[in-house]
Amino acid sequence: MDLPQRPRRLRRTPVLRDLVAENRVHPDQLVMPHFCLNQESGREAIDSMPGIERLGRKELVDQVRDDLALGIRSVLLFGLASAGEKNATGTHSSANDGAVPLAVSTLKAEFGDRINVITDVCLCAYTDHGHCGVIEDGEVRNDPSLALLAEMALAHAVAGADVIAPSDMMDGRIDAIREVLDDNGYENIAIMSYSAKYASAYYGPFRDAADSAPSESSDVPKDRKTYQMDARNRREARREASLDEMEGADILMVKPGLAYLDIIAEVERMTDLPVAVYNVSGEYSMVKAAAERGWIDEPAVVSENLHAFARAGADIIITYHAREALAGEWI
Ligand code: PBG
Ligand code: ZN
Repeated sequence: MDLPQRPRRLRRTPVLRDLVAENRVHPDQLVMPHFCLNQESGREAIDSMPGIERLGRKELVDQVRDDLALGIRSVLLFGLASAGEKNATGTHSSANDGAVPLAVSTLKAEFGDRINVITDVCLCAYTDHGHCGVIEDGEVRNDPSLALLAEMALAHAVAGADVIAPSDMMDGRIDAIREVLDDNGYENIAIMSYSAKYASAYYGPFRDAADSAPSESSDVPKDRKTYQMDARNRREARREASLDEMEGADILMVKPGLAYLDIIAEVERMTDLPVAVYNVSGEYSMVKAAAERGWIDEPAVVSENLHAFARAGADIIITYHAREALAGEWI
């Protein structure tokens, strides 16, 4: 008797496989991260992230213009602070002439609403100890950090940011940021919350790029485990996501991506908000390192990873691969 079921029929040709593909990744879903120098011009390589550079404003505008031609219409900005700009409470994070506010106003002046400018809000690149909140009595204190984060978000909104993305993981930050934005007339500026952000070893290359690693000398542990989530936890991600939603977040993010596909699926099932995933630096650099050695087929691996995020339920994919994936037609 003939086999009753032949799933392979629909895999026979590429065009047939494309017809029945359940998920696609579109350029509109991609967000390209950028590391912004507080300089008119300049570019610096990042050793642990081949293909990614810290950019001055002129180079940033040129890069974003080229990326826009490829179809990348959303950027996520991180700021660099010089050693002299760092202090215990990271006050430079809310300076109107900091790297991010100046990059935002420059990009918005150049591109207007042709691009979404999203800004990361966190203190770690601005504190001399490298933690995401202020340290008092030997601990990273939650509530005293909230006002600083809200001031930082406000500085970004004043500069013209479209979306504010807090990555600090202090409790109550969405509420604190929403209130300050609303009180200052920015009630239409959206918040994309790093809701389920895990204390991950995959952030290593980013901390080189942003010079934001917790320092050896601080009197609190050199990791972020008292505020970022424990990798062993799934239900806790639901709790963080619901709190952020209740506090007024507009988009929920899961971070990192590849080791947390189950969390993306979990959050997508529980919310009606858009879900974002951050394909983080370590995930990027591992692909790059293996590809450089000829051990993997980079275009195929990147396509597979990006489609995995879509399949898991992500609407928005923040990835350092965005430019090469589109330029090379990897997706
Ligand atoms: C800042 C921040 C980090 C990342 C995004 N925002 C680093 C961290 O929490 O230590 C990581 C992004 C990446 O690894 O690509 N809090
Ligand atoms: Zn931080």
